[in-house]
Amino acid sequence: MHKKIPVLELEIDEETSNILSIGDVFAPERIPIGVQVDNFKPNRASLNRWWLGRAIPASRLGLRDALELMNVSSTGLLLLKCFGLSLSDQYWVDSHEKHLNWDEVNFFENSFSEDVGNALFGHASGSKKISLESPDNTSDGWLKKKWIVSGKRRLLVKGGSELISSLCVLSVSCKRRLLVKGGSEPAYQEPLNEVLASSILKRLGIHHANYELAWDGERPLSICEDFITKKTELISAWSIYKSGTKKRNISDYSYFLQRCEELGIPLIREGIERMLVLDYIVVNTDRHYNNFGMVRDADTLQWLGFAPIFDSGTSMWHNQFANRINGLMDQKSKPFNTKHSSQIKHVTDFSWLDFQALKGIDDEYSELLAQSVFIDDARRSALCLALNQRIQMLANIVARRRKS
Ligand SMILES: Nc1ncnc2c1ncn2[C@@H]1O[C@H](COP(=O)(O)OP(=O)(O)O)[C@@H](O)[C@H]1O
Ligand SMILES: [Mg+2]
Repeated sequence: MHKKIPVLELEIDEETSNILSIGDVFAPERIPIGVQVDNFKPNRASLNRWWLGRAIPASRLGLRDALELMNVSSTGLLLLKCFGLSLSDQYWVDSHEKHLNWDEVNFFENSFSEDVGNALFGHASGSKKISLESPDNTSDGWLKKKWIVSGKRRLLVKGGSELISSLCVLSVSCKRRLLVKGGSEPAYQEPLNEVLASSILKRLGIHHANYELAWDGERPLSICEDFITKKTELISAWSIYKSGTKKRNISDYSYFLQRCEELGIPLIREGIERMLVLDYIVVNTDRHYNNFGMVRDADTLQWLGFAPIFDSGTSMWHNQFANRINGLMDQKSKPFNTKHSSQIKHVTDFSWLDFQALKGIDDEYSELLAQSVFIDDARRSALCLALNQRIQMLANIVARRRKS
């Protein structure tokens, strides 16, 4: 299903969630982008990869413990428990027997259980019956994360006492959907980096998911609002990449831009260039094709443009020792080139980039880092120095470009 519109008929194995066969196709234009179609019918293996790719990935931190806590054998089973519904797009599966009503089941408008999300954070209670109807069952990525509804959520603050986050209190009436994300050992730096990236993007006037800081005991968390509504959906860059065939003699970057143009997605070059500038500054090492995307109107299928920038936390040497932090050294990048020094060359227009707006960002980052017990002074100093070095290196690139 795509919202209320039947797309095609499937037979799914309820034990494994695997697609066994495909029946009639009712709305070929709504077959998920990137799924291979042969003779007007989706290829079963390709559709199966797309469908199972909606499940929590095997790489998710703490997954095995969470499944044990919930007494669920696989992430595929969780997928069926929530009918494949997500808070990032509008696809789901109905059953011939049940005939569910989208208005009554979608997570944008209906409440959902936090049990799966709590289990993923290792916080499930052993006794009460767990409800598995949750958009967490279809959340991607390797960091611990959970969706919450604003207004009713209590967050743990530093030291372990409970407080309703001001972010949530403000919005009791509008009940926004918020994504809470953790960090990874040993520095738990990703949430702090998300907040840094948000500040850089805000200062530079770039459309982004705004991440705010919260705490789970001493561990930092980031919280951002769902930028998808019941009328829109996120299509990953990876789906777009797979929707065509790249010729050998063309670069990944040119192919991707060309594919977006063929699909009629507006303002892609501008969106990508701004993202590459951010990634250069914060030394993002994980901007793979599922970490950016496009937004589409789910009713009309009209492309709305480049999605707000999200998931920038895997940056700023988050998994490196302090003595490895050096802003002057070239770093690994994704997705178009393997080094940031090469990837930044794709940016054709820096005229919008106002370095003045970044003044004081190092002090802001320092204050942010100082809040975490997992970041010592040496690491904090090295990170702030490196941030300044990255900004200076970018300024040098821009100056050289202006001269030539
Ligand atoms: N604010 C958001 N609104 C809607 N969907 C989101 C939002 N943030 C993330 N997502 C979706 O959730 C997925 C996982 O989130 P992400 O931040 O990439 O986690 P990770 O850091 O674990 O990779 C993303 O690939 C995207 O599909
Ligand atoms: Mg991600």
